[in-house]
Amino acid sequence: MKARIIGTGSYLPERIMTNFDLEQMVDTSHDWIVARTGIKERRIAAEGECTSDMATIAAQRALDMAGIKAEDIDLIVMGTITGDYPWPATACIIQAKLGAQNAFAYDLSAACSGFLYALSAANDYLANGRGKRALVIGAETLSRIVDWTDRNTCVLFGDGAGAVVLEAQDGESGILSTHLHSDGNYLELLYQPGFGSRNPSSPEGVDARLPYLKMQGNEVFKVAVRSLTDVSKEALDANGFSSADVGLFIPHQANLRILEATAKRLELTEEQNFINVDKYGNTSGATIPIAMDEAFRQGLLKEGDLLLSAAFGGGFTWASALIRW
Ligand code: UT7
Repeated sequence: MKARIIGTGSYLPERIMTNFDLEQMVDTSHDWIVARTGIKERRIAAEGECTSDMATIAAQRALDMAGIKAEDIDLIVMGTITGDYPWPATACIIQAKLGAQNAFAYDLSAACSGFLYALSAANDYLANGRGKRALVIGAETLSRIVDWTDRNTCVLFGDGAGAVVLEAQDGESGILSTHLHSDGNYLELLYQPGFGSRNPSSPEGVDARLPYLKMQGNEVFKVAVRSLTDVSKEALDANGFSSADVGLFIPHQANLRILEATAKRLELTEEQNFINVDKYGNTSGATIPIAMDEAFRQGLLKEGDLLLSAAFGGGFTWASALIRW
């Protein structure tokens, strides 16, 4: 019995913010952003549009592809760091919007690795018979926690949502393995200081900068390449495969240079390496399910193909999944 992906869906907000738009906002240039990140544009949620709105559309699209009704879902696991509220879980809001009344639902916090952590959790539930069908979601509205005056970070991020439906099935197709890691020693290289119990909001208000995402990009870069490479090798080794067996590699879309450096270390070809960071920037927990949906709808994932996916993010957290499509 394996948990197989039987439907994928994604949603990107309509509004496109180009690098030229950013040139009007901070001291940057289209050429710098493309050369250092590969990003050309990103999507920004409309006023009033929040994470559950985007995620519900992505999830409904995944359910439609799977031909499954919302009430047939047993669990919803969502990776996000930009839920509608600090609590309760945005997965519960999505459950209500979809009418998935037979599911239990929760969010987990693993930043850019959130979707693969959620996929791993759902896979374990299904493997242990705690349900037959799961909805796994990665969705973020990072535009609401980005400091739009900080050129070091604001050029990198975007909004979006992706989802997959998992079903426990007999056969060769499905999730072959997941590997998860974390190291809390790197907290201050990538985090959001404000609005938790350390720096709560108060009647006097908090320091104006605290609610925003903080990052030391070049330090994150080095650890990201090393971790993505190691956790991808770990997945291949655990299953007795080599890079040549991989049909498609879907890494977390953080920065084109990270993706190219990782693919090079893994000896993957350009054709194996799926890239859409140029269109959407880094949507944190949403990049991988959005990419899976795009790749599948573009015909890049066929039954029997080996899909390798890996992510790295705040925590630090890093993870991989090896999937027989
Ligand atoms: O999902 C995981 C989350 N995070 C990441 O994956 C981020 C990983 N890191 C990165 O993607 C890269 O480190 C960045 C794109 C953030 C930065 O690229 P870099 O090549 O590491 O540049 P840097 O931080 O070393 O900065 C080089 C210069 C600096 O100027 P000085 O000090 O050399 O004069 C920066 O101030 O580039 C400057 N700079 C910019 N210039 C124009 C930084 N941001 C910008 C900008 N436009 N937007």
